[in-house]
Amino acid sequence: MANKKQLAVLVALLALLVGPSAGLLGISISIGTGTDCVVFVGWPRLLFLRSLICGLLGQPYTPPIWRDPPTGAGLSVGYYNNSDYADSYCPGAEAAVRTAVQSAIDQQGRGIGAGLIRLFFHDAFVRGCDASVLLQSTALAGTGTEMEGGPNKDSLRGFEVIDAAKEATKAACGNRVSCADILAFAARDASDILSGGRISFPVPAGRKDGRESFANETVQLPGPDSSLQQLQTMFAAQGLSTEDMVTLSGAHSIGRARCLFFTGRLAAMDRDYAQRLDASCNGTGSPSNMVSQDPVTADVLDNQYYKNIDKFVLFGSDAVLISSPATKQQVDVNKANATSWEIDFAAAMVKMGKIGVKTALVPGETEIREVCSRVNA
Ligand code: HEM
Ligand SMILES: *[C@@H]1O[C@H](CO)[C@@H](O)[C@H](O)[C@H]1NC(C)=O
Ligand SMILES: *[C@@H]1O[C@H](CO)[C@@H](O)[C@H](O)[C@H]1NC(C)=O
Ligand SMILES: *[C@@H]1O[C@H](CO)[C@@H](O)[C@H](O)[C@H]1NC(C)=O
Ligand SMILES: *[C@@H]1O[C@H](CO)[C@@H](O)[C@H](O)[C@H]1NC(C)=O
Repeated sequence: MANKKQLAVLVALLALLVGPSAGLLGISISIGTGTDCVVFVGWPRLLFLRSLICGLLGQPYTPPIWRDPPTGAGLSVGYYNNSDYADSYCPGAEAAVRTAVQSAIDQQGRGIGAGLIRLFFHDAFVRGCDASVLLQSTALAGTGTEMEGGPNKDSLRGFEVIDAAKEATKAACGNRVSCADILAFAARDASDILSGGRISFPVPAGRKDGRESFANETVQLPGPDSSLQQLQTMFAAQGLSTEDMVTLSGAHSIGRARCLFFTGRLAAMDRDYAQRLDASCNGTGSPSNMVSQDPVTADVLDNQYYKNIDKFVLFGSDAVLISSPATKQQVDVNKANATSWEIDFAAAMVKMGKIGVKTALVPGETEIREVCSRVNA
């Protein structure tokens, strides 16, 4: 308890030194040194001492942007197949991406497919689907790009698969296919492959790549400790519904997670499962150890996730989906009817792929990147 007291004193002192700045819609305050401070919601606080301080200072989380439901205006299915537009004509584009994804899965295992699906989600929620998550540095952010943000650092995977797919499209037709589209195609192909062909859908394309990316904007990504209301708010801020949120959370039927995100919840899980997790995590002794998210069908994108709620899911943000009647009802339908969830998942992925798309070429703002990890010179 002494710790808490000390912290309270520290915070009180900081409160005197720190004044709210005219930051973006009140989510940002500056500390004496001028360091920016953003409030991460739902991510274990240890990771983000600064956000703990901000949080205790009582800054309410307000999503920095509120988007209307995405319409996808300017995108079209078969975009690269349209020979009327010479600049974007690349009939081999989608096949090239598919081949790159398939060969990555063949070589590295199915987990890399999970990585690609998550990469797409994390791109969509920050600056829209503009491949900002792939940038290693930009003019304004320096090396402090999205991939350095707390939710992404040491976590995202699949970058090299996107790079390989990019090279393959360039070999097919030159630099015509945007990294943002490649990411959307790759997430679709991974969904298809990991679901054994049950989740297969056309992806409208025509996205351009952005030229900026900021680590602090990853504050818009929900965290494993997010409450149901926080999840709803963060999806609503992107123009997605609570139904979309419940549907897309089913992606946690694949891939892996680090122990630090769920050891606090072991007591709420099935006893035997919690014991196995405890062993994998060495108690809380190995926070960076990783386990499969789905203990039943770890490598298959399926509706098992909904059957796992709430005793066999890892995160609080998974378990809370049965804490309201409406979301529980949807979990129950998804649990009982695999097809129904698969159809919804395909549609929700397409919808997520429409968030904040930039479809016009605007010099200095958008482009078709030559290399996905950096902006064009
Ligand atoms: C609803 C809010 C969500 C929260 C709070 C959340 C949180 C997380 C966390 C904490 C991890 C583990 C990261 C690590 O240990 O480093 C994770 C993994 C993952 N998430 Fe989510 N996520 C959410 C929604 C989504 C959505 C919408 C998708 C995609 C449609 C998705 C796909 C994945 C995948 C595939 C993985 C495993 C990645 C891998 O194995 O590389 N998640 N998520
Ligand atoms: C684009 O054209 C290629 C080659 O003709 C074809 O195989 C592919 O199915 C088409 N893709 C779409 C999305 O229309
Ligand atoms: C985010 O970081 C950039 C610099 O990397 C800074 O210019 C901007 O003000 C920061 N935004 C917030 C909300 O803190
Ligand atoms: C288990 O955790 C302890 C710290 O609590 C650490 O010293 C030890 O190396 C860990 N063992 C393994 C196998 O990771
Ligand atoms: C499952 O959902 C699909 C798609 O919505 C529907 O066509 C089918 O009738 C449902 N099956 C059952 C048993 O309810």
